[in-house]
Amino acid sequence: MANRFPNILQNKFSSLHPKPSISCFTGAQLSTTLKRSRNLRVPRRLVLGIGVSFWAQFMNMSASNSIIASARTKGSVQQILENVEWPEQFPFKDEDFQRFDESSDLVFYESPRFVTHIDDPAIAALTKYYKEAFPPSNTPGVALLDMCSSWVSHFPVGYKQERIAGMGLNEEELKANKVLTEYVVQDLNTNPKLPFEDNSFDVITNVVSVDYLTKPIQVFKEMHRVLKPGGKAIMSFSNRCFWTKAISIWTSTGDADHVMIVGAYFHYAGGFEPPQAVDISPNPGRSDPMYIVHSRKLATA
Ligand SMILES: C[S@@+](CC[C@H](N)C(=O)[O-])C[C@H]1O[C@@H](n2cnc3c(N)ncnc32)[C@H](O)[C@@H]1O
Repeated sequence: MANRFPNILQNKFSSLHPKPSISCFTGAQLSTTLKRSRNLRVPRRLVLGIGVSFWAQFMNMSASNSIIASARTKGSVQQILENVEWPEQFPFKDEDFQRFDESSDLVFYESPRFVTHIDDPAIAALTKYYKEAFPPSNTPGVALLDMCSSWVSHFPVGYKQERIAGMGLNEEELKANKVLTEYVVQDLNTNPKLPFEDNSFDVITNVVSVDYLTKPIQVFKEMHRVLKPGGKAIMSFSNRCFWTKAISIWTSTGDADHVMIVGAYFHYAGGFEPPQAVDISPNPGRSDPMYIVHSRKLATA
């Protein structure tokens, strides 16, 4: 029986840009994964109660309905994270971080995929955003970390720093990434501890992958630890994903919810400025949407 929860969310939040979600899977990849996960899959959560109780906390806030409505009509997401009254307790439950395919992520990513996971206009929009947000190329002492990286980081052409570290799950992809000066293969869902010193990085990026993190608060706390005071974390995402590997709260909600979810990660990890959202979608409704949720480590933290 179909769950009512996604419908409720569609009515209340709807996808900000109505281009249908597209899975990054080819049919063959999907069928392999389904076969692989058939015996491993855990019972899927009953999203109805969990999701509604989570979002109800926001919907009860006087401004929430109008925020979501105006975000939808004006095509702007930035208001979603303005003046949020976050619940005192972390509002997510363990079930929210379950995936359809709970088999090892290392196995899922064992073969390299030399593909792009969003379309060219979305990539161009992200690169343009980076151009404005990043410290100038070749600034002495500046270091960047690209988490959940692959063979490409979408940084501006020719962008260089003494240190650009990459983390991901496929060594062949990371080795082929021209912008990285070093890389680490590490499954953040089994080991969320980042293998870097405190206060190491000026910028952390994560492109279309925050939805795969099953221990996001631990990872965001670690991002806070390795960022320099005032350092910026830039989480970007679209409406595409390997859905069997994305967490349940992500696959059962829409774009505006995803902004709120990533904002919540910053908030509940602690030590960050209030997160902000930006819609950098290049051609709303015609190419992949692209959203950014970003925050800085508090200068005093
Ligand atoms: C959709 S791809 C995006 C890759 C890259 N950021 C890009 O934009 O092309 C998802 C990436 O997330 C990384 N990833 C997925 N699950 C992960 C995990 N458990 N630990 C660390 N990285 C993970 C994989 O290495 C993979 O490259």
